[in-house]
Amino acid sequence: MQHSEHVPLLLRFTNSICVTTDLNTQLSHLSELIKESMDVETCLLFVHLKEQRTLWKRPEKRRGEIKIHAEAHAPSLPQEQQIVLALFREFLQPNPSAAFHMNENSLTLPLLGHRNELIGMVHLQGHSKGEFTNKSLELLRLIGACIGIPLENALLYHKVRTSQAKIINKLSEAAEFKDDEAHTHAKRIGLYAEVMARNLGLDEEFCALIKLTAPMHDIGKIGIAESIIQKPGPLSEEEFTLMKRHTLIGHDLLADPEDEALTMAANIARDHHEKFAGGGYPYDKKGEEISLEGRITAVADVFDVLTSKRPYKAAWSIDRAFGFIQNLREKHFDPEVADAFLKNQEEIHFIRVSFED
Ligand code: C2E
Ligand code: SIN
Ligand code: SIN
Ligand code: FE
Ligand code: FE
Repeated sequence: MQHSEHVPLLLRFTNSICVTTDLNTQLSHLSELIKESMDVETCLLFVHLKEQRTLWKRPEKRRGEIKIHAEAHAPSLPQEQQIVLALFREFLQPNPSAAFHMNENSLTLPLLGHRNELIGMVHLQGHSKGEFTNKSLELLRLIGACIGIPLENALLYHKVRTSQAKIINKLSEAAEFKDDEAHTHAKRIGLYAEVMARNLGLDEEFCALIKLTAPMHDIGKIGIAESIIQKPGPLSEEEFTLMKRHTLIGHDLLADPEDEALTMAANIARDHHEKFAGGGYPYDKKGEEISLEGRITAVADVFDVLTSKRPYKAAWSIDRAFGFIQNLREKHFDPEVADAFLKNQEEIHFIRVSFED
């Protein structure tokens, strides 16, 4: 076979990995492209999660997620997964003997990274011409050679992003450590903020960043005395003055003008207690003087605290909290942001009940 005739096709493959950094999107584009160029009915594209000794396939609309563990019991799996698992296990052996599996109905091939490490597996079924042949194998090998290393990099990027998010979440939990009631508060704040950002039509990057950084809004509470944070009753004026400093403590802790995520996190820490019509703290800003990320997080924070139990207050019902946000539209909250929140009550409700303390 002339390999040069496949160059445009192969370029489409590398392009499809490079145009986005989101692993799920990459995998869905790749498997569509493989299906189309190999002329097959089904393409199952798995990536190898090394630490978990697992092959993972992203969920599709109709089918759920598929996870095959190396320890899985083969006869209980559907046939195509048995084939994938058998080949996968062979690959985990010191000297893999078979580099592929092919019969007339299916073709299965491992994808390799830069040190011939297993990056994933591709499993095809139902060739439109009736059966798989050596030509199919050759083409799939070519595609595999072309996407293996880019996919390895994509996986690495995904790992770094996931690890970054985990570190941030642990940091946010550290801020809430003093407060027994607030374990999942930080995580929910990120999810509400993301819902609003999406609904305001903000770009993917902003949505991903605010989901990541809004959970750190109260990190400055690390610098506030436990006796104040855990006080069962109302704060004295003096105590509240001290408490207000958590905004600037958080800002100074997080600020790094060279880092986009930390800049957003610092803006949020500083601005989340400002009010749209003024009267908030620490700077008594108004309207768009308050960063957009700060305006968004203000809604998320107040809603979540209202619907939660705190040492100083009982939990409100979700509907009462929605009413509160509605009433303070314009006064406390940016009306457009509040509307982006109130328009999605079902989703917000779902987040609130799915991540209970
Ligand atoms: P937080 O618990 O994270 O509360 C965040 C914000 O949610 C509050 O900011 C306020 O805007 C809103 N919020 C919370 N609970 C209620 C409520 O029962 N009614 C109303 N209308 N709004 C509520 P704020 O007021 O600036 O407070 C900042 C932080 O100061 C609070 O963070 C909390 O840690 C502390 N704090 C505020 N009030 C009290 C209090 O009465 N007793 C104690 N022990 N701490 C308080
Ligand atoms: C906490 O209460 O410690 C978490 C932050 C918050 O409630 O807003
Ligand atoms: C800052 O000092 O952190 C910014 C001041 C401001 O925007 O109010
Ligand atoms: Fe706060
Ligand atoms: Fe908060």
